[in-house]
Formats: sequence, structure tokens, C-alpha cells
Amino acid sequence: MSRLRLGVNIDHVATIRNARGGRHPDPVRAAKAALHAGADGITAHLREDRRHISDQDIERLRREIPLPLNLEMAATPEMEEIALRHRPHAACVVPEKREERTTEGGIDAAGQHDRLKDVVRKLADANIRVSLFIEPELRQIEAASSMGAPVIELHTGAYCEAAASADAYERDSQFDRIRRGAEYGASLGLEIHAGHGLGYETVGPVAALSEIRELNIGHFLVGEAIFSGLEAAIRRMRALMDEARANTERRFTA
Ligand code: PXP
Repeated sequence: MSRLRLGVNIDHVATIRNARGGRHPDPVRAAKAALHAGADGITAHLREDRRHISDQDIERLRREIPLPLNLEMAATPEMEEIALRHRPHAACVVPEKREERTTEGGIDAAGQHDRLKDVVRKLADANIRVSLFIEPELRQIEAASSMGAPVIELHTGAYCEAAASADAYERDSQFDRIRRGAEYGASLGLEIHAGHGLGYETVGPVAALSEIRELNIGHFLVGEAIFSGLEAAIRRMRALMDEARANTERRFTA
């Protein structure tokens, strides 16, 4: 079974920096810490309103960090131009405006097929590995596949919210959506990533799904860094992912 990669999302280091407008804490320093702690990639969302990550952060991440950069971006001409200029390893197309989202929060790939298809093609032509951040719904997965995206990132937010509310039935049914989505996407030949809201308590079952190749995790790690330090938080997350993966492997080989 393939190794599960961890992409560390550093957006909220920038959120804290921007709260005071200075340079501390520096998200590029956080990316260096993530590298030391064993992250496989850095994820950063350059939002239209620049509420956390800035254009200069993206420039510095490209220049100073040897890890693959996954740029989260809205499907706008401005972001397209920025992605084509910086040529990150990967770009994940995410919704920013309400009307671009599905009910739960992923991008509405089915509803915006033609617009997104064009963006996917332009990024892919520049050798950027494109993913679409979508809900684990069959029609969204089909739409992503039919527009030629090689990767989908399944939104784990509803599962994490249900887990936090201690509603076991809702948690299990939300998890089941992710499991079925991952299986279906992989059956169509898509590479499957997942993320949003994951923490120590929720990461295990998702990491155990053998079809999933990468998890992108940010907010929880930055929050946990307050108590344990960023490197320790990332190492613990990595260990939980590896443990879940090893259990799946044992089940496969038993
Ligand atoms: N994946 C995508 C596509 C995202 O937009 C986000 C949030 O920026 C994440 C993963 C990480 O979510 P969180 O910060 O809740 O771990």
C-alpha cells in the first residue's frame, strides 16, 4: 500500500501574524519546522482578500522551502495568473464564494463544469498537478473526473463536525460518504486526497482508507502548536497516520 503523505497547511500561522500586522509568526519559518518534523508538502491558500497568506509568502515558500508546494486557489483569472507564474508542484481548486459551494462546502464541480474544466486544463498544461476540493458525492467525483483533473481532495469537514458533536450515527454516516467517495474516485483512476477539520481524534479512520494518498491538515496543528510546539504536533499527527495505515496493512495481509 502506498505511503500516506502529510501536507501541512500553514494558513493560520499567517492569520496570527496578520492579527498584529507585523512579521511574527512567520509562515515560512513554520514551513521549515514542518519540513524538520517530516511533512511531505506545504499547503497554503492565497485568498482573494489575502486574509492570511500573502503574495510574498507564496514567493518565499517557492524560493526557500524545498518541499512540494500545494497552492489552494479560487478558480479566478487572478489566481490562475499567479499559479502559472509561480508554478507550484500542485494546485487545489477551492470555492471562496457561497454560490461556488455545494451544500457542505466543497466546490460545485458538477454545477460549474465548463468554467472549471478550462482552469484545470490551463494548470495541467503548465505541469501543475491539479486537484479539486469536493464533497464526497458521486456526482461531484464524476464531474471532477470528466473534466480531466488527476486528483480530488475529499472534504472531511462534515465528518469532523459530526465527530465533535458526539452523534455516533451521523459521524459513521459521514465517514461512510468519505469511504465510498474514496473507493469510487480510485475506481475512476483519480488520486485521492482528503482534508479539512482533521485532528488527532478524527485522523485515524481517514488515514486507514487505503485509497487515500495525502491528507492536508492545518488549523488543528497550528492550534495544538500553542500547547506542544509545531514540530511535536506534526510528529504526533504523522505517528497517528502511520499507525492507522499500518493497521490497514495488517488487515490486508492477514
Ligand atoms: N484542504 C483544503 C482544500 C482546505 O481548503 C483546507 C483549509 O484551508 C484544508 C485542507 C485544511 O483544513 P484545516 O485547516 O481545517 O486542517
